[in-house]
Amino acid sequence: MAKAAPASIKKEIDGLRKKLRHHEYRYYVLDDPEISDAAYDKLMERLKGLEAAHAELITPDSPTVRVGGAPRDGFQTVRHARAMLSLDNAFSYDALRDFDRRVRESSGKERIEYIAEHKFDGLSISLQYEDGVVVRGVTRGDGTTGEDVTPNVKTIHSIPLQVDTAVLKKAKLPSDFEVRGEVLMTRKAFEALNRQQEQSGGKIFVNARNSAAGAVRVLDPSITAARRLDFFAYYLFVDGKVPFPRHSDSLAALKQLHFRASDDWKLCSGIDAVIAYCEDWDAKREKLPYEIDGVVIKVNATAIQNELGYTAKAPRWAIAYKYPARQETTVVNDIIVQVGRTGALTPVAVLEPVQVGGVTVSRSTLHNMDEVERLGLQIGDTVLIERAGEVIPHVLKVVKEGKNRRPFHMPKLCPECGSAIHKSEDEVAYRCVNAACPAKRKESLLHYASRHAMNIDGLGEKIVDQLVDTGLVKDVADLYALKEDQVAALDRMAEKSAQNLLAEIAGSKKNSLARLIYALGMRFVGERTGQLLAEHFSSLEELAAAKEEQLVAVPEVGPKVAAAIAEFFSEAANRQLIKKLHRAGVHPTAEKREVKSDKLAGKSFVFTGGLVNRSREEAGELVQQHGGKVSGSVSKKTDYVVVGSDPGSKYDKAKELGVTILTEAEFEKLPGLK
Ligand code: IVH
Repeated sequence: MAKAAPASIKKEIDGLRKKLRHHEYRYYVLDDPEISDAAYDKLMERLKGLEAAHAELITPDSPTVRVGGAPRDGFQTVRHARAMLSLDNAFSYDALRDFDRRVRESSGKERIEYIAEHKFDGLSISLQYEDGVVVRGVTRGDGTTGEDVTPNVKTIHSIPLQVDTAVLKKAKLPSDFEVRGEVLMTRKAFEALNRQQEQSGGKIFVNARNSAAGAVRVLDPSITAARRLDFFAYYLFVDGKVPFPRHSDSLAALKQLHFRASDDWKLCSGIDAVIAYCEDWDAKREKLPYEIDGVVIKVNATAIQNELGYTAKAPRWAIAYKYPARQETTVVNDIIVQVGRTGALTPVAVLEPVQVGGVTVSRSTLHNMDEVERLGLQIGDTVLIERAGEVIPHVLKVVKEGKNRRPFHMPKLCPECGSAIHKSEDEVAYRCVNAACPAKRKESLLHYASRHAMNIDGLGEKIVDQLVDTGLVKDVADLYALKEDQVAALDRMAEKSAQNLLAEIAGSKKNSLARLIYALGMRFVGERTGQLLAEHFSSLEELAAAKEEQLVAVPEVGPKVAAAIAEFFSEAANRQLIKKLHRAGVHPTAEKREVKSDKLAGKSFVFTGGLVNRSREEAGELVQQHGGKVSGSVSKKTDYVVVGSDPGSKYDKAKELGVTILTEAEFEKLPGLK
């Protein structure tokens, strides 16, 4: 009889299970992990090792028995036709050689042909196609049942909504099939998302995987759509079976079917070629547009796959080689503040320089004050940092508090321009709201000149850079004082183009009050709000003097927008700017909208997608000139939803609510509009 395990082993196993359950919850349910994947893997490996040595201590609820996370409330659960299994991990080349040995022994072959692929770091999804049309998208869930996320996955552009019958025929596939693959977010999309979150004071995502997973597992598909996700296909089933003699055939067929599949997979004859592939991509993976956390190695021949079969959790014919994590510990010597292009203040940790995966790291963004508090970080602490690809490293946690640690506070004055820093109750970000703050100058000018704002043609990035860098322009009002010889002296400027630009700038004085309000770049004040405000106040001065109570009286202006407007005008530098604009001749007064008819009186319209004949704003203006109303969201009260190219979720909402849907051509033909 086996000797009973000592109490200390049992205690360690219990502790590991508890920890793993906690981290699984953080990772799978909350999408908000506290530790890195590598640290999690390490705990799991330790538990697996202990359970292997003490089988009598295995319980049916051990994290080692489970494949994935529990489905969330609010989604329909769907049973997978064939279980979505996980993969066994290999953390060393020796482990890969062991895998190869097992495969060779079981199959009786001397050398195995493998396919090595990127291991995409995302969320696995099964897509079912019937009659060539995608009918269902399901997450892996616990491997047996997953969550039905069909409306969400349909927003992902790299997922074909339908596949041509002719193409299927050519690929020798029937029109009912299943595709499995990974939903992920490119580094670029991820960085853009966090920048946007930083500015709006939203939650900062720790990594691309979690933000992609979170975006798929939301009940509102418009959130999925906004996150710019990608899908990489790696597996094909027909009637629950692999339809081709080789996995490489499936990968080729997926491409033929217009799925996005990695082009970087490689046919490797024997395990040495596999290891060379892993080494090659370890060096190159940072250059990829998306993150990979390893390499998946699959036996190419379907016949051998079938012979080897599956364990309870994973195929015996495949393995995931995981790259070592790029983590290090170091000391936070200081925390400084950077002012972003929109005025949001970002705390940045100044680190004791340290090598992480071959790169010296000395800075790490802390995103915002909430993040500093969440980490419990103070200056002098030792932290664990992780570098994922080329992304600036982030602090995972404090590992040791510094002896002489001191707390960090946000400055009261902007480090760039000295204006007072604002922070609203319901927002995470601290901001400098001075429109002329040097940190924001270029961005403010570009916005001011943009097509839907003051529409100054020719005032692009290259010119703005020079105007600011040479000190000619410090705020938008300075544009109106520019002289021809000053502009002509700029790079890429000929005399004629200088004249044209000055004419454009001068011409912009005639713009409407609505455009000017929008052009000032107040937070939450988009084109439509600009329009509504211009209908309510007769001049910029009147708007500047308005109290928050007066502002909320404007249709669609809520307390948040009202507070942002009041905040903007409370800044002395901004009040000065308005005076300066006035002196420069930029002082439009509210124009009364031209009323053409009341044919659309009482009708409300929503526009979605791109129109051909006019911009959405112009179409909206037209509706209003005929007495109609334009709204930003679809409800039961909406009369018409006008759908252009690539419509958003408003289109689905309209269908769901049975609102009348018009094409652009049908819209143009409405009585009164012709
Ligand atoms: S094949 C039965 N191929 O990694 C084999 N999986 O750690 C199913 N993954 O559940 C998986 N890239 O979510 C496969 N090229 C790839 C992959 C891949 C990423 C994910 C997948 C899987 C997990 C296992």
